[in-house]
Amino acid sequence: MANITFTSPSLSRDVTVYAVAGDRGTILAVAKANKIPIPFDCQDGECGSCLVEVKTLSDKRPYGIALTEKEKEALRQLGKITKEEIVQAEVNDIPPRYRLACQCFVRNEDIQVSFVGDETVPAQPPHLSSAAKVFKGGLELKSVDDFLAHAIKVEEDAAIHFDGLAAGMEACGNGEVGKLFRQLAGYSRLHLKEAKTRAKDLDLTAQIPPDYVWPEHATPERTSLYASDADISRLDALRAALVGEKRGYEFYYSVAGTSKNDEIVEMAKEFVKEEAEHVKILEAWIAREEWLSAKHAV
Ligand code: FES
Repeated sequence: MANITFTSPSLSRDVTVYAVAGDRGTILAVAKANKIPIPFDCQDGECGSCLVEVKTLSDKRPYGIALTEKEKEALRQLGKITKEEIVQAEVNDIPPRYRLACQCFVRNEDIQVSFVGDETVPAQPPHLSSAAKVFKGGLELKSVDDFLAHAIKVEEDAAIHFDGLAAGMEACGNGEVGKLFRQLAGYSRLHLKEAKTRAKDLDLTAQIPPDYVWPEHATPERTSLYASDADISRLDALRAALVGEKRGYEFYYSVAGTSKNDEIVEMAKEFVKEEAEHVKILEAWIAREEWLSAKHAV
């Protein structure tokens, strides 16, 4: 029998579980079976999100291990394994300090498994916009279909909105900003495609009542109205777009943080990740734009 003690800032106290022979599997499998929230994504040793620190709790020599190339590479990329540890693992069978929970099999020994917590969403919750707050307190998504229907609506509206803004910009000769909005519409369409693929034959109208009113009368990713100003600069357009993307991010974040349905939570987290990427891209564009304007002003 193996005692596995899970410890993490995301647990209110350490949790020890017993993994009996024949029913052990990986650390991640044991964690999932016992509702221990080790973050994970690919479950195939590639993404590194299930990183854990493993300590043997007995005085005996730890069981030998076979580090796969995949795990080695992921740990290397995360900066969590040294050359020395690789040699020790390959030559002397001594396990490294960090492992991937989805790749590390529980053996007949007591271990302590430490993990940081769910890093698929930021540790510090973002400031929630009123849309997210209303959503958080008001509307409860009860099923995956319900979530997807809302995600489709959000992304569809965002794509239409960005395309409309792009057309407006192009019509008044501000092609540069128009191109930017087309790019943002493209991002929304990618999301939309993903949500639609998952939703398959879902009837949208069955999920969102036609008279449903979103907070502030706009789906979360819509930018502020002033973005349609014909004289808008690239920098201001980017700032307006950032507001929209952040609202989209907050929307999914609040769903991920409040839904009681595990499947919805997992899906919302994926959208959170992607929205966070878009926010990062926009912030980088804005930083560059600000740098360029400052340079030209000198
Ligand atoms: S879940 Fe991706 S590496 Fe373990």
